[in-house]
Amino acid sequence: MNQADTLSPSPIPGKPGPVLGIETSCDETAVAILGPEGDILAEALHSQSEHTAYGGVVPEIAARAHLELLPPLLARTMEKAGLAYTDLAAIAATSGPGLIGGLIVGSNLAKGLAIGARRPFLGINHLEAHALTPRLPGLVPGGLAFPYLLLLISGGHCQCVAVEALGRYRTLGTTIDDAVGEAFDKAAKILGLGWPGGPALERLALTGNAAAFPLPRPLLGRPGCDFSFSGLKTALARLADANPTRAPDLAASFQAACADVLADRARHALAIMPAATALVAAGGVAANTAIRTALEAVAKAAGLPLIAPPPRLCGDNAVMIAWTGIERLRAGLTSPLDLPPRPRWPLDELEAPRPPGEERGAGV
Ligand code: KG4
Ligand code: ZN
Repeated sequence: MNQADTLSPSPIPGKPGPVLGIETSCDETAVAILGPEGDILAEALHSQSEHTAYGGVVPEIAARAHLELLPPLLARTMEKAGLAYTDLAAIAATSGPGLIGGLIVGSNLAKGLAIGARRPFLGINHLEAHALTPRLPGLVPGGLAFPYLLLLISGGHCQCVAVEALGRYRTLGTTIDDAVGEAFDKAAKILGLGWPGGPALERLALTGNAAAFPLPRPLLGRPGCDFSFSGLKTALARLADANPTRAPDLAASFQAACADVLADRARHALAIMPAATALVAAGGVAANTAIRTALEAVAKAAGLPLIAPPPRLCGDNAVMIAWTGIERLRAGLTSPLDLPPRPRWPLDELEAPRPPGEERGAGV
């Protein structure tokens, strides 16, 4: 018997209780403990500042920082919740997609805790966690019902996803070049701002005129829901060279172009998904007020609410990892202990719950 055989599957004692979530897929080291109904018992998040000097996340530095930060953060969070590991129903950690070093650190620590406490391990897809955040009962009373449209807009991802049920996701459109957060970061660099660029660019845009420069709106009005941002970034670079003293106007014009494009794509996606009960914006860029306002108008025109989690739940965090663990555990899904971390793990490849009568494991 090889080692993988002895480790798989993870033990399933079927004990109800809180779920621990761990997030380490990029540059946030985060831990959260949620009660069985999704109430937040304790959470901690450390945004690594180690990357600022490099103007972007350095994978090796991120992995080492996770390794250093995670154990004390975990100990403090467990203490805050007043829990021992054996009080938990399960231990969930991001297993992909993301930077492989961080994924290895977080998921292996979670597996070790699961073995030690004899509790199930849940290897969570980070994109699914963003997708399920609006189902947190504390965010929308009772949690948002399926199906809904998710606009996932972050530094690494830019996609329209039909969220049909747990484990059932259909990607309606995605970026053909840069993610929108990446475009904000590159635009901020062009304008001489710090990193991460999104918040800095938004602050600068507040003092500028959004109509000052007619920047292109890539793919606007075209059929489908794909995105493109690299042409917009190139146009901004050219204008910035010619207008070095007008950074606020350039920032405001860039932000307005992004908002217009995102709104147009979301409008198309809602037309493809008539059963949607809401438009959900998630990912770091959903913290942007101009973009929220543009999406609000799209949702309103379709007679739907816009659900945008508060900024701390929009960006990377561990609450969404623990919550996804709860949803999966309720559906009888756990992960084998030999589940490999996956740098690339598209939403369409996720495991969905089995039909009634075939479930395994116990809910919380
Ligand atoms: O979801 P997130 O925390 O991490 C991932 O990329 O997965 O998103 C971070 C991204 C960065 O590109 C950052 O510049 C962007 O979200 N961002 C913003 C704002 N806040 C963060 N972009 C525009 N406006 C903001 N207020
Ligand atoms: Zn994310």
